Formats: sequence, C-alpha cells, structure tokens
Amino acid sequence: MSNDSVNAGRRRFLTAATSAVGAAGVVGVAIPFLGSWNPSAKAKSAGAPVKADIGKIEPGQMVVFEWRGKPVYVVRRTEDQVGELVGLNEVLKDPGSEASDQPAYVSGEARSIKPEIMVLVGLCTHLGCAPKYRPEVGAADLGGDEWLGGFFCPCHGSKFDLSGRVYKGAPASANLIVPPHSFETDDVIVIGVDQEAA
Ligand code: FES
Repeated sequence: MSNDSVNAGRRRFLTAATSAVGAAGVVGVAIPFLGSWNPSAKAKSAGAPVKADIGKIEPGQMVVFEWRGKPVYVVRRTEDQVGELVGLNEVLKDPGSEASDQPAYVSGEARSIKPEIMVLVGLCTHLGCAPKYRPEVGAADLGGDEWLGGFFCPCHGSKFDLSGRVYKGAPASANLIVPPHSFETDDVIVIGVDQEAA
C-alpha cells in the first residue's frame, strides 16, 4: 500500500457543518465580524473543541464532523443495533476495550455516554485510513449473515462493529478511538471536552 493510497483513504470522508465553541451568543452581530467569532484554522487544528449538532441524525445514520483535522463519526444507533453488541464479544480482539483508547466515562460494549449515540475518531487504528460506515446487516462482501453492521476499512480490510471494536483477523489491533466528548444538550455534543464525571 503506497503512501498515496493511504492519504487518499484519509481524505475520503465528508465533513458536516460544525460550529466552534465560542460562537454562541453572537447572533445579530454584523456579518463582517464573522471571522473574529470563530477560532482560526490554526486554533482549530491545535485542538479547539467543536460543537456538533446531532439532533437531525436519523436512527441508523452516521454524520461526520471534523475535530483537530480528523474526521469524527457520530452514529445514532437503533435499539436493535445496541442490543446486538453483546453477542459479538467472542469474535472481537478487545471486546472490553481494555487495550484501546477511550475516556473513562464510556465502558462496556456500548462505549458511549448514551447507548444510542456512538462517537468515534474515523481513522483506522492500523495505518490511519478512513473506515467506511457499513450498517447493512448481512452484507455479502463482509461475511453475510455474520455481519451485523459496523465499519470496514478499505485499505487492508479491517472490520469494526458499531462500537468501533475491531474483529479478530483484522490487521488493526486496537478498537477505533473514542474522543473526549460531552453532551451540552440532548441535541448538541462538544467534541474535545470531557463529560463531567458522574
Ligand atoms: S489502514 Fe490498514 S486496515 Fe485500515
């Protein structure tokens, strides 16, 4: 796999509109000041948190936001999708995410603050390509009946479940990273700011 191919994989993600922390409360300010409300590109790539409006994500749908120059996948999982996760533990490398990167306030199969909202850094833990969202149960090219939906990395074939947990036999060895995030409201998450410890 050449570097070019890997880079092409990294670029292959869509970016949804995001608004940066600090943008709220300025509605009504004249447009020419727009530039001064938002963190500069440099500040954003250095790690400014990003607010993501997740209110319009349909059940089963994924939307991609951008944080620190990386794609962040947000999936609104259905109840059925969450229910299937526990049955996959046997076929995964690190079902409990003990050797994988995630904040302390997510755990178990769901790896999320709210069971339905999954937040993942959209970069394969093998060599950094962008895995594709493949929610179709039974997809013939991904194992047929065994496939319950998840992510597939086109670069070297790693498969991940809908919690970003990597399947055995994949070249990737760790689960997809769960970034720090928190809920500002039911419909708005802040990527890059930790949920306060409950
Ligand atoms: S980058 Fe190699 S499997 Fe994803």
